[in-house]
Formats: sequence, structure tokens, C-alpha cells
Amino acid sequence: EEDPRIHGIKTKIRVVPDFPKKGIMFQDITTVLLDPKAFKDTIDLFVERYRDKNISVVAGIEARGFLFGPPIALAIGAKFVPLRKPKKLPGETIFEEYELEYGNDRLEMHIGAVEAGDRALVVDDLIATGGTLCAAINLLERVGAEVVECACVIELPELQGRQRLKGKPLCMLVEYR
Ligand code: PRP
Repeated sequence: EEDPRIHGIKTKIRVVPDFPKKGIMFQDITTVLLDPKAFKDTIDLFVERYRDKNISVVAGIEARGFLFGPPIALAIGAKFVPLRKPKKLPGETIFEEYELEYGNDRLEMHIGAVEAGDRALVVDDLIATGGTLCAAINLLERVGAEVVECACVIELPELQGRQRLKGKPLCMLVEYR
């Protein structure tokens, strides 16, 4: 049965039609952040799931994975590692490319931030095609980490992004169809 807190979170997600372009129903989580109860419930649901899973690193995806990842990491006693868009990280990095609707983008990670044997949770606000999470999983696995699970607030199930997660489980709170 669905946790009663999930309904409250869902009501706080604002859907903005035709943003950033025509035909896209943008899932805006900034309205969840405006509601301390919904924001706390979101973090708590993930913390309750991951607190006893021996997670040593929470990897958050730029930009909105930076909003949810750090409070989860603090609560479960894991380090937080940002996975960033190109040319943002100052240290030595490795990168993975992924496809966008038009062209490519990449995610970068600092070398040394994640070590072999780390147990990783990947956090983002939303999974659409799964390309971004797939790149994140690849970065973590290349340095020898074990990706335990991916966690997103919202899933767009029709795009079947789950199938691109290399068999890693996905935990999401809200489906948007
Ligand atoms: C959105 C979202 C995820 C990604 C999911 O980010 O926050 O990171 O798209 O899409 P996918 O599953 O098809 O890969 P966006 O590309 O808008 O970048 P931003 O966070 O920098 O705005």
C-alpha cells in the first residue's frame, strides 16, 4: 500500500505545460520545496528506505539531484558527491556522455571522490528516458563502486527509462503518465 505521505508530495508538484518548449509537461519540484512538510516527507521516505542499507556515498545529479541528495546523505551518514554538467568541477574528472533530444551532454565526476568498494545511491528529481541516470551509473561503476539503487521523486513511466538502468533498481515516489 502507498505511504500516505506520497499523496501530499504529489499535490505539491507543479506541472507546467509547454516548458521549456511546446509539448513538454514540465514537472516542477520547486513547489515541493516551498512546503516544509512535503519536502521533509520526501527526504524522510528515502532516508527510511536507505538508512540501514550500508550506503557510503550519495551521488546527486546536477541540478535538482543537488536539492534532494545532500539531506539524504547527511541523514544516513554517507558522503555526498556531485555529478556535474561539463566544465563545472575544478579537479581532475572522468566523464560519461549521454544523448539528448538534440545532440549530446555529459556528466562529470571528480576522480578520487568515489572509491572502489563504495556503495552508492544515485539521486535525481526525475527519470525520463533514463539516459542521465545511466551515465551516472557508468561513472560510479568505472571507479569500482557498487550502485545499490537509483532514487527519484518522479518517474515518467511511458518513456521506459527504467530499462536503461543496467538492472539497477529504481525507487520513485510519484508516477506521471
Ligand atoms: C532533467 C532531470 C534529470 C534528467 C532526466 O534534467 O532533472 O536530470 O532531465 O532525463 P532523462 O531521464 O531523459 O535523462 P535537465 O536535463 O533538465 O537538466 P538540469 O537539471 O540541468 O536542468
